Parts: sequence; structure tokens; C-alpha cells
Amino acid sequence: MRLDVHFGIGAMTAADTAGRTVAVIDVLRASSSIAAALHEGARTIIPLDGADEVITRAKSYDRREVLLAGERRMLPVTGFDLGNSPHEYTRELVEGKIVLLTTTNGTTALMAVHNARETIVMSYVNFSVGAEVLAAALRDGGDVTIICAGRERQFSLEDAACAGRVVRQLRGTAHDHELVLNDAALAAEQIERGYGDDIQRLCSDSAHGRAIAGAGFSGDLELCATRDTFPVLPAYREHRITRQSPDRE
Ligand code: MLT
Repeated sequence: MRLDVHFGIGAMTAADTAGRTVAVIDVLRASSSIAAALHEGARTIIPLDGADEVITRAKSYDRREVLLAGERRMLPVTGFDLGNSPHEYTRELVEGKIVLLTTTNGTTALMAVHNARETIVMSYVNFSVGAEVLAAALRDGGDVTIICAGRERQFSLEDAACAGRVVRQLRGTAHDHELVLNDAALAAEQIERGYGDDIQRLCSDSAHGRAIAGAGFSGDLELCATRDTFPVLPAYREHRITRQSPDRE
């Protein structure tokens, strides 16, 4: 069984996701906001490339059914209903709604997944349910790919550390000699060791964390650094993200 981590989608090919169980990690903040939205009752989330695509797609729905959501340079897109802060995705606003979402890195990483056996969206806020799905895939003899969305096509510390935590947890799943890790998985594990449970410090240290705080969203760092606040399993299939039961009955 293979457990591969990718720091960004730049060097990925279709073979890196085909037939595999894939987790897309964007701790700050797309994965965390997606988990928040589904936890608070959003019906589905449709990731889209850009603001124009969101506006065009919205025209095919009754306006009361949809929320236009997303960010550019961390700030809500002008005229949209929601930005990309997990705090915004309250039950009052999102319950029963279709969320049309565009973000700089997170939604782009999701759309780079092709022909996966299963794709989930993961961060610290839904860590345990996500890790269990990946563990089950390895127990079944499948291969796992973890994509760290990164920042503007660059490496990002918080995604790497979260991936490293997953690697650490999955090591116990298979006999070590059966599990083949790529170098990025080994590196992610080393990074994670430096932070351990101090996810708050990790998010404050990272370049994107500092930028988010600078943009006035310090509260998001605290929320995104909290484990299992939104224990849902966002599954990406046929260009939509929906909440799936962790035991997938
Ligand atoms: C992204 O997808 O690029 C991020 O979630 C950006 C952000 O922090 O809003």
C-alpha cells in the first residue's frame, strides 16, 4: 500500500489520484469552512474556479436556494453572500442551502482530483473522521494520496503538519513493511513532530496564518486549529461536496 503526500498540485499527474482514496487538506481555511458549512446543515457545496463561474452557475438555481461564497486574497468577493471564514457558515445562513464556493487554493486543489476511488475534504476540525476513512482504505489494501492545497502554489506549513499528523496516525494501520511512504510523507511527519498538539502555535507561525491574522481574521486561526469541532465527512463526488456518514452506510 502506498501513502503519498503532495505539497501542492503543481507536480501532480492524474495517476496520483486515479483509483486512490484522496484527502484534500486546506487547514486555512477552505477545508475548515467546508466542514463548518456541512456541519451546520448546508445541502451541498459546489467548488468552482472563479467568481464569474459562481455568478454564472447561480443563474441556474432559484436565488433563494443558493449562497454565493468565497474569497480572493482572503477577503469575501464583492457582492457574495459569504466569504471563506468558517465563522460565517452559521446554521441560520446555510441550512438547506447549496453553497457555490470559490477559493484561491482549496477549491482548486479539489478540482485537480481525477478518477479517485473516493475523495474527502479534511483539516483539523474534522481530523478524526477523515483519518478513519484513510485508515479503512489502507486496511482494505488501497492506496492513499493526501494533497496539501498550499498557498498560491507554494508549500504551506499548516497543511504539511496536518498531513504529517495523518501519516503518524496511519502508520499503525498497516504493518510498516507493507506501507510505502513517499519523501513528502516522511517530511510531513518530521514537521508535525515539531508542533505536536500545539496546533495554535503552528497556525500562528505559518505565513498564511500570519496573513489571515493581519487581514483581521485571528478568530479563524483559533477555530481552524481546534480538533474535531466539526466532525463531519465532506465527500467530493461528481463535482459536488456532500456530507457523508462516516461509516458510509
Ligand atoms: C484558499 O483556498 O486559498 C484559502 O482557504 C484562502 C483563505 O484563507 O481564505
